Amino acid sequence: MSQPHQADTTFRPDLLAGKHALITGGGSGINLGIAQSFAAHGCKVTVLGRNLEKAQKAAQGIVDAGGQALGVSADVRDFAALEAAVAQAAAQFGNFDIILAGAAGNFPAPVDGISPNGFKTVVDIDLLGTFNTIKAAAVHLNKPGNILSISAYGNPVPMQAHVVAAKAGVDALTQTLAVEWGVRGVRVNAIIPGPIDGTEGMARLAPDEKSRSRVAQAVPLNRLGVPQDIANAALFLVSDAASYVTGVILPVDGGQNMLGGAPQYQTYLAMQQAEQKA
Ligand code: HXC
Repeated sequence: MSQPHQADTTFRPDLLAGKHALITGGGSGINLGIAQSFAAHGCKVTVLGRNLEKAQKAAQGIVDAGGQALGVSADVRDFAALEAAVAQAAAQFGNFDIILAGAAGNFPAPVDGISPNGFKTVVDIDLLGTFNTIKAAAVHLNKPGNILSISAYGNPVPMQAHVVAAKAGVDALTQTLAVEWGVRGVRVNAIIPGPIDGTEGMARLAPDEKSRSRVAQAVPLNRLGVPQDIANAALFLVSDAASYVTGVILPVDGGQNMLGGAPQYQTYLAMQQAEQKA
């Protein structure tokens, strides 16, 4: 996204002035949207990604739009690399006020199409990576501070056993940390994004127009989300307006969660039927 990102009118433009946020997986999609939105509200942002060039490009886009940003690289599966990257970020912009563990890995596959290494890979990125991010960055976290993770429904989702299992762990980690660290002045919350347009996740899970519109129609608010929808929830959760909110796993999904896993199951059934016909 190269166009300048501006603070929307819901929150005051200086909401996060003087703060520093670490955003893993911030090079694209939902996490980039959050990084851009935080920066547009005065926050210094460190965009961390596996690919340095992509992270730096995302940071440059934020700088070009008038924000303050740094791109750093680490694989969230590599704790030592994360420690080095967060130290670099803290040296540049000072300690963090916000840690957003957003990096995720995913591919659609049925359980019998996932190798042990494939399952481990996704658990390592999504669950262990969230733990690694928080552990490495918390050393540099100001108090009061905020931690956000990106989670998924507790519902069973066909073709997503690895992700759903990992994200259930993310929920447990989020709430356990909220209990442990509340006394230190750290709030810990998670967001469950619904189907968000223009993201890699959507491209993987609904690759064509027909499946995109099927997904949109299965959302009670009858549309796909946009990254700003998630960014708005993130802004609220890290702001003082949410100062009595911790351990919350907040769906931002147009109401999709109320339907349980039924829409995803219907999509799966349609795919199975199409395959049988072919
Ligand atoms: C089956 C697959 C596969 C596929 C990879 N694997 N893709 N198995 N079907 N489509 C297997 C490989 O065969 C290998 O196992 C193992 O996974 C590791 O693959 P690598 O390619 O070596 O791993 P790596 O390069 O580290 O890539 C990780 C990745 C990749 C998760 C596989 O997709 C990735 O980097 N994704 C990052 C971006 C991303 O996924 N974003 C979307 C997030 S959206 P073997 O046994 O062969 O060695 C999201 C939404 C959640 O998370 C929604 C929840 C409902």
